[in-house]
Amino acid sequence: MALFRKKRGTDETMHYGAKLITVAKPQSQTTEQFRTVRTNINFKAIDHDINTLAFTSAAISEGKSTVAANVAITYAQSGKKTLLIDGDLRRPTVHSTFSLTNRRGLTSILTSDSNEFSLDEFTQDSGIENLSILTAGPIPPNPAELVGSKRMKTFIDLVRNYYEMVIIDLTPILEVSDTQELARELDGVVLVVRQGKTQKQAVKRAVEMLTIAHAHVLGYVMNDVKSEDAGYGYGYGYGYGYGYGEQEKEKKSIFSWMNK
Ligand SMILES: Nc1ncnc2c1ncn2[C@@H]1O[C@H](COP(=O)(O)OP(=O)(O)OP(=O)(O)O)[C@@H](O)[C@H]1O
Ligand SMILES: [Mg+2]
Repeated sequence: MALFRKKRGTDETMHYGAKLITVAKPQSQTTEQFRTVRTNINFKAIDHDINTLAFTSAAISEGKSTVAANVAITYAQSGKKTLLIDGDLRRPTVHSTFSLTNRRGLTSILTSDSNEFSLDEFTQDSGIENLSILTAGPIPPNPAELVGSKRMKTFIDLVRNYYEMVIIDLTPILEVSDTQELARELDGVVLVVRQGKTQKQAVKRAVEMLTIAHAHVLGYVMNDVKSEDAGYGYGYGYGYGYGYGEQEKEKKSIFSWMNK
């Protein structure tokens, strides 16, 4: 299981997996921020049930995999039977994060001829109570078509009955059109925005595309916010809201909630 290693650049997660601070430092302020993300998502569940949830971003390397894995852990830690799916078939990382094999996974289910299968044959134990993992599986030549496929939608409809929370680590919305296809089928989508990296126009476009796709955009997680108060060398910080323009004035707080 990957814990903390020195930052090595944007391909780090591809090789070493995401950093699981929620496991390494359960009492830290950053872990608390991940719990707050969970709480705020739960608030949104008052309007409609949220049982399938995806994390996406405008472009690559904004922190989707890091946020998706840590939020999944906080759901599991709260006692919810949770499944984390690696839906990023271009840059899959979940198997590395949890030190699991990727011989079988989502693609095995989506490319199988059979309509009958046992979920347990494909999911793996994360080593964390209540958290199961479905890795990406062997990468086919047409990954985009798979995640946006009818079979994927059918699979999500099936799997939601077996878990209290299904969390999907998705490809960036501006890079791959299948993200849009799937997004509309889910109860909620959260946009990960990396401070100082994501272009304002890109965030706007990403929100537009999700809106056109009729996705339920729940808000955003502002990643990598530099805050003097964070008390944690890695510089995580999370804002959660919708309006990108609000970001500046919220910068000082480690976590902020903004309604749509
Ligand atoms: N808050 C942070 N502070 C420092 N480094 C971070 C932070 N969030 C993510 N990183 C690092 O940035 C890189 C990209 O993170 P991650 O893989 O989670 O992003 P991603 O959006 O899933 O990327 P991809 O588009 O490749 O799937 C990794 O090396 C990760 O460790
Ligand atoms: Mg990723």
